[in-house]
Amino acid sequence: MAHSRHYLMCRPDHFAVEYAINPWMDPEAGADAATAVRQWEGLKDAYEELGHKVSLINPIDGLPDMVFAANGALVVGGRVYGARFANAERAAEGPAYLRWFTDNGFATAMEPTETNEGEGDFLTLDEVILAGTGFRTAITAHKQAQEFLGRPVVTLQLVDPRYYHLDTALFPIDGRNVAYYPGAFSAGSREVLRHMFPDAVLASAEDAAVLGLNAVSDGHNVVINVEAGELALELKRRGLNVIPVDLSELRKAGGGPKCCTLEIRV
Ligand code: ARG
Repeated sequence: MAHSRHYLMCRPDHFAVEYAINPWMDPEAGADAATAVRQWEGLKDAYEELGHKVSLINPIDGLPDMVFAANGALVVGGRVYGARFANAERAAEGPAYLRWFTDNGFATAMEPTETNEGEGDFLTLDEVILAGTGFRTAITAHKQAQEFLGRPVVTLQLVDPRYYHLDTALFPIDGRNVAYYPGAFSAGSREVLRHMFPDAVLASAEDAAVLGLNAVSDGHNVVINVEAGELALELKRRGLNVIPVDLSELRKAGGGPKCCTLEIRV
């Protein structure tokens, strides 16, 4: 069942690829901010056409990855668990996002002591929060989030540097089921996923390589990179409404629709 969502986004006015903190980023090749803004507007329009509410945080000059709002925090039940970035290049984004929440009336906000990149590595389902580790978010943050949010957190081990955040390899289709690319996970975590989600959608290496797993579902409508053709077909076959978007410029920094989207769950 679809229901209306509230998302926080950040216009990529200062977007650029000027350092490399994941294998997608090539500072020599760079990226074009104007193209990124146009594509990002398409994503924002898609959410608004679906009836979702979009709030905006002001982009900050000198923080070219700030467009990737998913990394800014994890918000569950109105509680805001702040981000603490793994790389110095993005460190200033943590306090900037936390500040947006405190300025906007979220009283229960925690500045984390443990390294974590928000919804990039924490994906919230009805009964459980799935949490990635291996490249960015520390397991100690999984424990801290569980204590702060009072929800069970299940650790999943990421093993492929191209899929450095959990949200590049898995997305919740609804509150109970997920789609994922098995190759991004350790053998033990693949077993955990098989056990928890026997009916999951398994994505191919090709669909993962266009960041097809970096999708946003409201339970019925799935906003997904246009290049992920096979995955889109399977989602349709399961009765979901697929909304393709083109975020090819943002992919040059290793991001897709979900990376640009922080869900505010009250
Ligand atoms: N260039 C950014 C980084 O490497 C991309 C972040 C993508 N965000 C995400 N939620 N996967 O940190």
